[in-house]
Amino acid sequence: MLRNLNLDDFGIYEGISETIVTTNRGWATNAAPMGIIRRKDKLFIRIFKGSTTYNNVLSEKVLVANITWDPLTIVNSTFSDLKDSEFQNVNFNSRTFATLKKAQCWVAFECTNTKLTSESFVTELVPIRTHINKCIIRAPNRGLFGIIEACIHATRYRLTNDEKYLKLIKAYGDIVEKCGGENEKEAIKLLYSYL
Ligand SMILES: Cc1cc2nc3c(=O)[nH]c(=O)nc-3n(C[C@H](O)[C@H](O)[C@H](O)COP(=O)(O)O)c2cc1C
Repeated sequence: MLRNLNLDDFGIYEGISETIVTTNRGWATNAAPMGIIRRKDKLFIRIFKGSTTYNNVLSEKVLVANITWDPLTIVNSTFSDLKDSEFQNVNFNSRTFATLKKAQCWVAFECTNTKLTSESFVTELVPIRTHINKCIIRAPNRGLFGIIEACIHATRYRLTNDEKYLKLIKAYGDIVEKCGGENEKEAIKLLYSYL
């Protein structure tokens, strides 16, 4: 456990922070967008059944939360597997942790007090290692936020096939077209291709 860690320094503020959670079982690495929930200095994650992340976290009891503003990584990790070359394995505490090379920073957590329900589990996150690659100063961009919202609606669409989500994805896609840069525009095209 890291004492006196200031979570703000790693971009994890109160509320829900959207991160890319990397996990591994042996050499098999996985990445998926997941929200880290912070209330004061307590951190949690809720993971729904059916994902690789769900199985890996239940089995290994650790995860890494990577902070990135890269829209293509967000879309690709939602719908497919990232390439092996996008991961960087880091060894500590006699274990191997998968992290994202492109992350601005990452925090590795031990998962404790796990509470299972029929459709998900909630687990408390205790920071055990941190790393900062680079600081990016970037004004809020509605195109990037549009990518995040569109990805969330796309995961709901995949689960339910409810057409209302297609309308929401299109509405956020229009914002991406209006406010995003080239990367966000490429990312929304990629997202449409996964639907
Ligand atoms: C921005 C964003 C946040 C998400 N947050 C969560 C979350 O907190 N918990 C969860 O179970 N799924 C969450 N998801 C859905 C998973 O990322 C999605 O089911 C993913 O396909 C799981 O991938 P995996 O099977 O490789 O683990 C989120 C998706 C997005 C786009």
